[in-house]
Amino acid sequence: MNFKEKYGAWALITGGTSGIGAEIATQVAAKGLNIILVARRLNLLEESAKKLEDAHGVLVKIVQADLSKQEDITKVIAASNHLEIGLFVPCAAVETHGVTTNIPLEKELALIQLNITSVFTLTHYFAGRMVERGCGGVLLVSSIIGHMPNPYLSNYAGSKAYILNFGTSLHWEMKKKGVDVTVLSPGPTETPMMENSDIDMSKTPMTFQSPALVATYGIEALGKKAVVIPGFKNNMMVFMASRLVSTSTAIKMGGEMMEKVLNPRYL
Ligand SMILES: NC(=O)c1ccc[n+]([C@@H]2O[C@H](COP(=O)([O-])OP(=O)(O)OC[C@H]3O[C@@H](n4cnc5c(N)ncnc54)[C@H](OP(=O)(O)O)[C@@H]3O)[C@@H](O)[C@H]2O)c1
Repeated sequence: MNFKEKYGAWALITGGTSGIGAEIATQVAAKGLNIILVARRLNLLEESAKKLEDAHGVLVKIVQADLSKQEDITKVIAASNHLEIGLFVPCAAVETHGVTTNIPLEKELALIQLNITSVFTLTHYFAGRMVERGCGGVLLVSSIIGHMPNPYLSNYAGSKAYILNFGTSLHWEMKKKGVDVTVLSPGPTETPMMENSDIDMSKTPMTFQSPALVATYGIEALGKKAVVIPGFKNNMMVFMASRLVSTSTAIKMGGEMMEKVLNPRYL
């Protein structure tokens, strides 16, 4: 079966208007799947939909929703429950940085609602429909940060560790039901999220990847791997921090690196 036969007719992509999500939407549309884009900014949703329709001749629906709000998560289900969603990609997420107790609680709780609760709720729903049909795919988006301790990104790191553990566990359950689940764990990627992160990546040994390359890694791993980390450097980083050194060393390395690269006003 080709990609479209396996994961069509519709792919629903949250955060599909920017960065990695936008690239996943483009590459999936190029394979002939119709797309549902979910994000908050209407102008970007409309622009992205037109681009995908013009370039790939697929149908594109947009759902304006703030997934850090429970009622908008329900809205996404209501807007798509009459369509056969064969591929679900919950890519929307936000990052907070700094000393956790300095970050307003509401901001941190909104992160948990978007990065964890919306992902779980929508995966529970869409994977459930896929199990009924005996086929489909879910591409979850974690981060290399989810594989290791990351001081000053604590809540974000925790949310990405949740996605990693949830997704790899779900991979096994769903495989038995004909549904593919893969976790994509990108390293630093050139997107608006990184541009707004107050982290000076030039002071780290890490290099940026393009969102297009990261998206390709994720799409190609679907149905083949439980987890995919794009690129050698990112794999080495994860191997070192999670396998080679002790947890206390990994915490120290992560903390000291962040103190070098994060804008000092957040320390
Ligand atoms: N960039 C990196 O270096 C990197 C590294 C590792 C992992 N990741 C992960 O990759 C994924 C995509 O990141 P990115 O860097 O591509 O992000 P991005 O360019 O900032 O795009 C985020 C997308 O999510 C949408 N979004 C944000 N808040 C939302 C909300 N409350 N409700 C609904 N949609 C919302 C945004 O649209 P609106 O603002 O219009 O809502 C946008 O479409 C995330 O899961 C991130 O954790 C990124």
